[in-house]
Amino acid sequence: METIDELKLILSPEKIKERVGELGRQITADYQGKDMVVVGILKGAFIFMADLVRQIDLPFQMDFVRLQSYGAATESSGQISITKDVELSLKDKHVLVIEDIIDTGFTLKYLIEMLKLHETASVKLCCLIDKKERRKVEIDADYVGFEIERGFLVGYGLDYDEQYRQLPGIYHLSPRYEAKGFFPSDR
Ligand code: IMP
Ligand code: MG
Repeated sequence: METIDELKLILSPEKIKERVGELGRQITADYQGKDMVVVGILKGAFIFMADLVRQIDLPFQMDFVRLQSYGAATESSGQISITKDVELSLKDKHVLVIEDIIDTGFTLKYLIEMLKLHETASVKLCCLIDKKERRKVEIDADYVGFEIERGFLVGYGLDYDEQYRQLPGIYHLSPRYEAKGFFPSDR
C-alpha cells in the first residue's frame, strides 16, 4: 500500500498575489512612522512573508521564530515550545507577527504571550488563513488574508509531513490509500 494524496485547488496563485498586495498596502498605511519589526513564524510562513514584505513600502527590520507543537500531524496539541527565539531587540518596537494559518490558536496565543515579555510597543498579527471555526483559545488576527472554514490545507508554505510547501497555490488535501501501482484515471 502507498499513500496517494488528493489535492484540490482552493486558492490560485493569482488570487493569493492579489490579496497579499492588499494586505501590504493596508500594513503600509497603518505602520507609517512606526518602528516596526516583522517576525515570521518558521517554517510555514516563509513564502507568505517573502511575498508580503515586498509589498510593504516602509523601512523595517525582520526576524524569525520557530515553534514546535507536539501532537498528531494535522492538529496541534496545545503543548508548544520555542526552538528558535527572536534575535533582535523588540523593546519599544511595533511587532507584526506573520503566520501562515491560525487553527486552534494555541501556537499564536503562546507566541504573543512570550513576545509581550519583550516590552514591545505593540504586537499585532497577520495571518494568511484563518480557520476561525476550529478555534480552541481566544485569539484574533489583525490582518487576515482568507477565512477558510475547514479542511487541511497545503501549498504556499503550508505542509503535510514537510511536503507540498513549494506549491504556488493553496490546496485542500485528503490523504487516500490506494493499492500500490494503481492510479485512478483522473490523475
Ligand atoms: P494552531 O496552534 O492549532 O493554531 O496551529 C497552527 C499551526 O498548525 C500553523 O502554524 C500550521 O503550521 C499548522 N497548521 C494548522 N492547520 C494547518 C493546515 O491546514 N495545513 C498545514 N498546517 C496547518
Ligand atoms: Mg506546520
